[in-house]
Amino acid sequence: MSELPRVQVLHGPNLNLLGTREPDIYGKTTLEQIDAALAAAAKEHGAEIECFQTNHEGLLLDRIHEAIGWAAGILINPGGFTHTSVALRDGLAGSGLPVVEVHLSNVFAREAFRHHSYVSGVSVGLVAGFGPRSYTLGLEALLDHLRAV
Ligand code: DQA
Repeated sequence: MSELPRVQVLHGPNLNLLGTREPDIYGKTTLEQIDAALAAAAKEHGAEIECFQTNHEGLLLDRIHEAIGWAAGILINPGGFTHTSVALRDGLAGSGLPVVEVHLSNVFAREAFRHHSYVSGVSVGLVAGFGPRSYTLGLEALLDHLRAV
């Protein structure tokens, strides 16, 4: 790939509260700090990212549709929409873009309703359980995937 790969990073509902939200589960790192770590990792790996957080499902879908025009892939933590949203799954599948799903917590070690993801089936892969590191691991994996295709 000659141009820098461009990645749309999407954060779903309640992730704006990171830092103070259930810190025993999600830690004390803020979303701003996660985005800064992602920007540094992107620079290191020769990529460009654009980060967006919303609490609104429709706005998430709008961003996915817009990403079709410019992004090579999507890195997403869908938050609670992971477990509820057929529309999100359809939007990601419809984008035709490679998707990597990330979660701060190990959703499989938590309540049963978190064990199913509508997003995993339309993703290249999933990183969960490593706190903020899940995001940078996910970005690296997505960039490896983009370079391989
Ligand atoms: C989460 C896990 C989801 O189950 C939860 O609804 C979230 C955060 C995570 O990053 O661990 O909002 O996606």
